[in-house]
Amino acid sequence: MKILVTGGAGFIGSALIRQLRAGQRAEIVNVDALTYAGNPESLPGLDDDPGYRFERVDIRDRDALERVFRDHRPDAVMHLAAESHVDRSILGPGVFVDTNVVGTQVLLDVARDFWEGLDDRPDSSGLSARERFRFHHISTDEVFGDLPLDAPAFNESTPYAPSSPYAASKAASDHLVRAWHRTYGLPVVITNCSNNYGPYQFPEKLIPLMILNALAGKPLPVYGDGGQIRDWLHVDDHAEALWAVLQRGEIGGTYAIGGDAERTNLQVVEALCDALAALRPNGPGGGGNGYRDLIRFVTDRPGHDRRYAIDSRRIQHELGWRPAHSFEAGLRETIQWYIDHPEWVQRVQSGAYREWIEANYADRELRD
Ligand code: NAD
Ligand code: DAU
Repeated sequence: MKILVTGGAGFIGSALIRQLRAGQRAEIVNVDALTYAGNPESLPGLDDDPGYRFERVDIRDRDALERVFRDHRPDAVMHLAAESHVDRSILGPGVFVDTNVVGTQVLLDVARDFWEGLDDRPDSSGLSARERFRFHHISTDEVFGDLPLDAPAFNESTPYAPSSPYAASKAASDHLVRAWHRTYGLPVVITNCSNNYGPYQFPEKLIPLMILNALAGKPLPVYGDGGQIRDWLHVDDHAEALWAVLQRGEIGGTYAIGGDAERTNLQVVEALCDALAALRPNGPGGGGNGYRDLIRFVTDRPGHDRRYAIDSRRIQHELGWRPAHSFEAGLRETIQWYIDHPEWVQRVQSGAYREWIEANYADRELRD
């Protein structure tokens, strides 16, 4: 099986590719524009892997995408490419609409043309290439908006009510994917997942930002009162869930994915400080009240959703998926990963990871 993964140089896409290639479960074509969030150094060792190909292509570029589909003839698409950071979407929403909405529409168009041209005669498996094809859209729980403290967790039938420009752009992309299924019959599956954490996450997001700031003895900026609740899932558990849905999910179906680990942001940051105190007792925040002394309450994010939570019974019951990591163990493992990979961290923080991109792709024009 050959899978075209978009956004495979990002945090979740790279975890998915590392996992699929480690188990030799599928050949991969990684289509990624390498924005600030795309880092080929998150895919160590894959350059020499014959089951892995990289295409630096922007999903808004129809001609380039058509060429990629023609050249590689994938059996499935797993669409992760997106602008993913809520704070950036508040400062500059345009690129979020451009990539997440328009980019998804262009990808859907090209995938549909390709799918319509596939052989519809059954082969030795009893199914045709056309019947086997899948378009898997990877989305977020943020499309459901702010969940009251006493309300049941989001599930597959929760109405959409996105709050931030990021969430609105992802909601729009989910609607487009459903429309391509209903109108054109494209065989899609959609997943909506909660907050991921784990290795190789860009340190603009809460957990890696806090780990690296704490290790450096810098302030830990908690927005508002820190009482906002998120559900946390280890990125490797998310990757396993995505594989299960791609393989066995109902066509046209949606799956909510979560870690059953609701925590307030303050609980997360305090747990992280305490885990660090055990792992690095002599670090810059290791004395007195430990790393907790570095916590600072700062101005809240505009429109900040108070709570997200996921009811993932559908994927658990129908597809047999369950998270393998507890949040506490996963958090400790993640902190240890950042301690053990100072070079990856340093090259991201200094911007040096862009050098490989410039050296290898300086001749390739990409859209802004
Ligand atoms: P990320 O920001 O780490 O990675 C995004 C990747 O997409 C990068 O490699 C970037 O170069 C690429 N990209 C961006 N614009 C592109 C374009 N126009 N063309 C081609 N490639 C482009 O994001 P992530 O955290 O790995 O999230 C991946 C997907 O999962 C996103 O669709 C996001 O909405 C969704 N998601 C994320 C989380 C989370 O907690 N991080 C949770 C649920 C769903
Ligand atoms: O819920 C899934 C979403 O999780 C994904 O769709 C997004 O792509 C992903 O970025 C993430 O969005 P969040 O906004 O929840 O993640 P972030 O790490 O930016 O923030 C997590 C929480 O921590 C949020 O309530 C804001 C808060 N926060 C964040 C930062 C960066 C702080 O208090 N301080 C910070 O410095």
